[in-house]
Amino acid sequence: STVIVCPNAEAASRVAAESIAATIDSALKSRGKAILGLATGATPEVVYANLAARHRAGGLSFQKVVTYNLDEYYPIQPIDPLSYRSYMHRHLFSRVDLPANQAHVLDGTVPEAFVREHTAEFDRWIEADGGLDLQLLGIGRNGHIGFNEPAEWSVAEAAAAPTRLVELHPVTRADAVREFGDAAKVIPRALTMGVKQILSARAIVMLATGPRKASIVAQALRGPVTTAVPASLLQTVADRVVWILDEPAAAELG
Ligand code: F6R
Repeated sequence: STVIVCPNAEAASRVAAESIAATIDSALKSRGKAILGLATGATPEVVYANLAARHRAGGLSFQKVVTYNLDEYYPIQPIDPLSYRSYMHRHLFSRVDLPANQAHVLDGTVPEAFVREHTAEFDRWIEADGGLDLQLLGIGRNGHIGFNEPAEWSVAEAAAAPTRLVELHPVTRADAVREFGDAAKVIPRALTMGVKQILSARAIVMLATGPRKASIVAQALRGPVTTAVPASLLQTVADRVVWILDEPAAAELG
């Protein structure tokens, strides 16, 4: 994998935004549209602010961009301020010219009996759009990507996992207290894009910042490929992966 270490989170976010803008530009030139996989969480907030600023400045249009978000809590209403749909609205969708019907976020209101159809449709749409030009990722402190959590299954099984309903890992739920305010209020399940779709992206940009990520970043990049650290599976497609880190997150890379 390519690893870029920036002096701070602000600079790392700028590099990530530049790479997304460059991907949009080149995909539009070659195919007339750009298909982006997007992430939520604390890490990419400045990336989206940066993309919105580029849009306001006039250089970047999302008219021909199609987006697929990694995940969504389940169940949750899209208008709930804690939903990832509303996160995307606040940080990006309401700030750029992305047509509403080109922004895909998994639907936390689908009745459970229809979840499999919904998630399978999500995967079909990505495929029908020609696959993801770029997937933006963050990493959980337990090594999750999207909400593909550490699990006891083989690397081959994990790598083939489609978009689906999952239970959140205890570390993920603990970190979500930051958003939900109270451990009892954390929604314990989510819909997540599968590792299969993530690893199929033509470019993968992993952004990790801050000292809390240093240990897991080192495990994912330098440790064995193991389903105990889902982000380590990125090593299997290393030629398409760029890790953008700030110095604190890179501190244990050696
Ligand atoms: C969010 C997502 C998660 C986060 C990860 C890091 O859509 O898929 O995998 O990227 O939990 O979250 P932050 O950035 O809040 O540390």
